[in-house]
Amino acid sequence: MFGLVLVFLVLASCDEDKRHQTMAFFFDGVPPLPGKVSEFGPLDSNEPGGGGRLATGGWYVHEPLKDCTQCHTSRRRARFSREVQLVAEAPQLCFQCHAEYATLAGWIHGPVTTGECLFCHEPHKTRTPFLLTSAVPDLCHQCHDPEALGLIPNHAETSYAQCLDCHAGHTGVTRYLLQPAFLESEAGHAYRLQADRQQYERALQTARNSLAEGQGISAMLRTAADHLENGRLWEARATLEVIAEGETVTADECQSITAIVQQVSALLETETPPESAGAELSAALAAVEEQRSARQRTLAGLYYQSIQAYRAGRLAEARAGFAELSRSEDLLEPIRQTVQRYLAEIDRTLNQTQNEGPLQPEP
Ligand code: HEC
Ligand code: HEC
Ligand code: HEC
Ligand code: HEC
Ligand code: HEC
Repeated sequence: MFGLVLVFLVLASCDEDKRHQTMAFFFDGVPPLPGKVSEFGPLDSNEPGGGGRLATGGWYVHEPLKDCTQCHTSRRRARFSREVQLVAEAPQLCFQCHAEYATLAGWIHGPVTTGECLFCHEPHKTRTPFLLTSAVPDLCHQCHDPEALGLIPNHAETSYAQCLDCHAGHTGVTRYLLQPAFLESEAGHAYRLQADRQQYERALQTARNSLAEGQGISAMLRTAADHLENGRLWEARATLEVIAEGETVTADECQSITAIVQQVSALLETETPPESAGAELSAALAAVEEQRSARQRTLAGLYYQSIQAYRAGRLAEARAGFAELSRSEDLLEPIRQTVQRYLAEIDRTLNQTQNEGPLQPEP
């Protein structure tokens, strides 16, 4: 059984190099190819591991290399397609022992999301730290054009080649996978300040567009509450500032919203805002929105009642309803105009009735 698999393995490896490695996998004591250091060194399962840390002879060794069977199997697969059999393909293979980066919160590096572990890491051992397939920055330059990168202000530093001083390989809590140490530095502070301003200005523009496109204040309040709930403080602040400028916002609402904006601004100044702060402000905002919705439902009810009264000829009742509506601060302009037309219409009819006796139908 084992012999059969071996035959397949050897036949399937056309290239001299691969065949040699395959043989080295199954036979102990195959000497290195002339002029080449063996890829695996002594294939002794007692070889001291190093957790990837520098082991003997300048090699970084992947700890499980002690036992090839943790990753390889000699069992034949239905479709025989590669020289070596893996117990699972990467990235699933790697996730058997390492955290599944792609499921962590935050920003995730493109090739990590797609599970390209082996583009950046060797599974066995390397001369580079972290088992990287080539040293930084060469590794990064395989996918990121150095010329384009050179245009970024922070890359003008002489230390630019030390990509990992500023960027993480897998995930980050900010965009661009920026390292906490960089964000704490002077350059990092300057970068954050500028990035925050840009984020705020984009959010202002988005909120202004929503308002201009006719999105209601209630819907925008809900959007702002959602931003707060999810810690998007700049977006929340910008949205609230735009809402406060809204025509149909009442003086009371404006006051509540301004108070919340002040608290959001204070949070933005805080180095590490308490986790619950966003949720509390979001709840306060939800209360403002609920009051507004309740008032609007009342207004809508009054509006339809008044129209019905008008149709039924109960003009005094209709007039009282429309008059109350016209005094309300938060009618949208088209509705306000309709209400005014009804009022004018009723007044004209009532005057005619007084002057000319019975109600006349409109011409
Ligand atoms: C942590 C998992 C892991 C361990 C442990 C491991 N390998 Fe591998 N090995 C791999 C992966 C993944 C590949 C496929 C590499 C690729 O596709 O580029 C591979 C490929 C190979 C290859 C094919 C040649 C090559 O480099 O692509 C040989 C031969 C091999 N391994 C031998 C061994 C031997 C011998 C051991 C034990 C000393 C061992 N491996 C231990 C994961 C492992
Ligand atoms: C774009 C290249 C790249 C890809 C793709 C990549 N890594 Fe890494 N990995 C790095 C770099 C760079 C480091 C060292 C610096 C660091 O920790 O950010 C590293 C460090 C590690 C470490 C040691 C430190 C730690 O975070 O535990 C492990 C384990 C690891 N990678 C596993 C993986 C696995 C599993 C995958 C596939 C899901 C993967 N890597 C994909 C570049 C990469
Ligand atoms: C059988 C378990 C196992 C599997 C499978 C496995 N690893 Fe590891 N890996 C380890 C252990 C154990 C360490 C050492 C952890 C330590 O030092 O804290 C390690 C360390 C690493 C490191 C860090 C090296 C350093 O310098 O700190 C990298 C990178 C890495 N593994 C990548 C991978 C990739 C990529 C795969 C999939 C191809 C993989 N591992 C599959 C067990 C595994
Ligand atoms: C296998 C190809 C590959 C390698 C190697 C690679 N990257 Fe990336 N990187 C990508 C892809 C794809 C994206 C996502 C592009 C995008 O979203 O615009 C990305 C995005 C990034 C980003 C974030 C850009 C953003 O818009 O948030 C940074 C920072 C970055 N890479 C740094 C590095 C560094 C540092 C290295 C070397 C350790 C590296 N990359 C190696 C493919 C790669
Ligand atoms: C001094 C810190 C620093 C170093 C070192 C550094 N970067 Fe950056 N990098 C940044 C910052 C900050 C950004 C955010 C963009 C900006 O400045 O507006 C960034 C952005 C990027 C982006 C995203 C570009 C885009 O517009 O989508 C990539 C990719 C990137 N860096 C890769 C690299 C690579 C590769 C290296 C190493 C050769 C490297 N960086 C070294 C700080 C650094």
